[in-house]
Amino acid sequence: MENLVDAGTRELGRSGITVGPLAFGCWRFTHDHIRDARTALDSALENGMHLVDTADVYGLDWGGTGFGACETLLGAVLSDAPELRDQIVLATKGGIHPPVPYDSSPDALRRACEASLHRLAVDTIDLYQVHRPDLFTHPEAVASTLLALRDEGKIRAIGISNHTPAQHDAIREFLGDALATTQPQYSAAELGPLRDGTFDRCARDGVTPLAWSPLAKGRLASGEDLRPELIALLDELAAREEVTRAAVAIAFTLAHPTRPVSIIGSQNPEHLHAATAALRVHLDRADCYRIVVASDGEPLP
Ligand SMILES: NC(=O)c1ccc[n+]([C@@H]2O[C@H](COP(=O)([O-])OP(=O)(O)OC[C@H]3O[C@@H](n4cnc5c(N)ncnc54)[C@H](OP(=O)(O)O)[C@@H]3O)[C@@H](O)[C@H]2O)c1
Repeated sequence: MENLVDAGTRELGRSGITVGPLAFGCWRFTHDHIRDARTALDSALENGMHLVDTADVYGLDWGGTGFGACETLLGAVLSDAPELRDQIVLATKGGIHPPVPYDSSPDALRRACEASLHRLAVDTIDLYQVHRPDLFTHPEAVASTLLALRDEGKIRAIGISNHTPAQHDAIREFLGDALATTQPQYSAAELGPLRDGTFDRCARDGVTPLAWSPLAKGRLASGEDLRPELIALLDELAAREEVTRAAVAIAFTLAHPTRPVSIIGSQNPEHLHAATAALRVHLDRADCYRIVVASDGEPLP
């Protein structure tokens, strides 16, 4: 049967920006030394992960030293090695504003974007994403701020994250084809976007999904806190494909027809390299449905 795992390059929506199927996530980019940060980034790039996804808020939790810390570290790496800038599709996010907690009002979003540019020490952000929807800003105001930032050359493409399908519809109404990406949580353990309308919106609008936590924050690698039948099935497929369970789980996120990009969160060069085995995995339709059933814990009708 046909292999559904799509290892080809993807365009981010209709932005003209092309990336590989695996991206490097910087939520855990909380290295104590710039040398270790550089090692992780170099490893990601060597393994074809040219889309680098961070956020202004990264560093506030997960071992960081505060708001902006991960962007500042990435900016320090890029300042040390300016030749890396052109090898990266630089993605960041704004709109989480502790303790408010969300603020995408025009002034706040503009200030957030400009502060990210400063911390990252770059002139342009390739993909700027609204990290979480601000329930108290009209989507037309969010969209017009983002379009203005794009017209000023501060950002090249626009994305959203953690938006419900209805919130996607509302902001897309004002962004049109400028909406390039959406970033939901998606993995073999978190199937929401398959059935809640998120991927259907991507199919309808030509928006590229960026799957966050494709290993369910590492649980699909460790096997902790997951249905035993899901782990057993992923292990069976891993043995058949002669790869790790993590590689099968990452491959599953690449098997949807909307051609998601999988944002790998590892900071470990060995794990980053091993993740590329996902691109050699063959999962057919029956394999994918078996994963859905094992993840749901009940048969499909
Ligand atoms: N938009 C949002 O709201 C949102 C939320 C969360 C995350 N994200 C994005 O998604 C990215 C990925 O999230 P995540 O870090 O939770 O992703 P993940 O890839 O699901 O999990 C990564 C974690 O798994 C661990 N791990 C253990 N064994 C592994 C193996 N064999 N291969 C790879 N990793 C292994 C990693 O540790 P080692 O480092 O030791 O390998 C790391 O701690 C983030 O960096 C961020 O860019 C976005």
